[in-house]
Amino acid sequence: MAKVGIFGAGWVGVVTGACFAELGHTVVIRDIVPEKVDALRSGVVPFHETDVQELLTGNAGRLTFTLDVADIADCEFLFVCVDTPPTQSGDADLSRVWSVVDQLPALAGRPVLVMKSTVPVGTGDKIRHGLDQRGLEHVAYASNPEFLAEGNAVRDFMQPDRIVIGADDGETADGVASLYESIDAPIVRCDVNSAEMVKLAANAFLMTRISFINEIANVCEATGADVVKVAEGVGLDHRLGPHFLRAGLGYGGSCFPKDSLALKQLASNSGYHFQLLAAVIEVNELQKRRVIGKLKQRLGNLQGKTVALLGLAFKPNTDDMREAPSIVLASRLLAEGAAVRGWDPVADGTKLPEGVTICGSVLEAVTGADAAVIVTEWAELRELATSDVRVAVRNPLIVDGRNLLNPDDVGRAGFAYEGIGRPAASRELERA
Ligand code: UGA
Repeated sequence: MAKVGIFGAGWVGVVTGACFAELGHTVVIRDIVPEKVDALRSGVVPFHETDVQELLTGNAGRLTFTLDVADIADCEFLFVCVDTPPTQSGDADLSRVWSVVDQLPALAGRPVLVMKSTVPVGTGDKIRHGLDQRGLEHVAYASNPEFLAEGNAVRDFMQPDRIVIGADDGETADGVASLYESIDAPIVRCDVNSAEMVKLAANAFLMTRISFINEIANVCEATGADVVKVAEGVGLDHRLGPHFLRAGLGYGGSCFPKDSLALKQLASNSGYHFQLLAAVIEVNELQKRRVIGKLKQRLGNLQGKTVALLGLAFKPNTDDMREAPSIVLASRLLAEGAAVRGWDPVADGTKLPEGVTICGSVLEAVTGADAAVIVTEWAELRELATSDVRVAVRNPLIVDGRNLLNPDDVGRAGFAYEGIGRPAASRELERA
């Protein structure tokens, strides 16, 4: 078992540290924010993520948190898990990565600096050079990108589809691979540049699938097909697979929007115009706004209408509001003069524009509303079309931005229904 140091007590760092501790390694997580370290020391996880609390409690003996960089000086592996937000130009901001390199303490033996943060291709080469310049030639370097999805991060770590290790020598790659020995997953070994690109390409491909199915949904609406059935029929082709074919209001979150922009900029900085990715991004931006058109079609002018946005986090099982479609929707609705209510079981909605009324329950949000919009597919919303809700609303319209509900059931419960890419259902309801 190894001693693992982790830079960054954010979501990636804490999940990675907790999982390595669960695998039996001794882990020290270092952050620069005292409040974060204090909270973690007292057992409080500063974000909502399934199973992390249990892992921290269960492995408390192998897991420590510190502000002092000297505490990781004897670690054999030093994981960089800091964030790389977009700069004004859309490139990834690597300043936090570089401050880790600058703060490395004197390190004995042959430790490995391992990059988990998502970085542009070529970063490893620059860091290698930076380490050498700082007299740290004996520190090996590897890229080991994370493929953790929020809400499923522990499962994604413990049962990954693959582990990617980019290193310039076999010994370093073997060392990093040994940390995952008890995990049953294929390991892709490659050079550092390729490992960096795997991460960006995987996310870009997932986003491409989402924008693709969203465009198919839009064409379904125009032509009378049902995208849910289309996705099922397409996804059963083993060459295509069923994943990331859920049409909806577009992707959000802390990764996809930032990573797509970073890859687009990386390509253009290298003189290449990545047309497909540019289209994927644009389709996603437009997709978030389609609900406004649907509401106008049903309600006419939105001035003075009350719209309940149900689900505010960018996806279920997280409180993360970063790049959540609810933010764009809320501000468009406010601009149209609508009264906007918001409800989410976990996210507090503080990132929404001023003027949105946050409600403590679905019933409160929909009372007197002209439309209830499912923005995030929380399980709680599966039962939205109840008689209580039917009585509470001013106008029985459900706009299902995630195709969560069965249109026939919703119709039977006395609501008009609008999904994404499901025009047949709407027409049936109109005829009824
Ligand atoms: C994503 C990737 O799934 C992870 O593999 C990756 O490690 C992570 O980014 C990262 O780069 O760190 P995450 O952003 O947590 O993870 O969430 P996803 O579950 O992938 O969903 C992303 C967005 O796509 C959400 O807004 C979701 O609603 C949307 N989505 C997903 C769809 O609209 N349709 C789908 O079929 C699937």
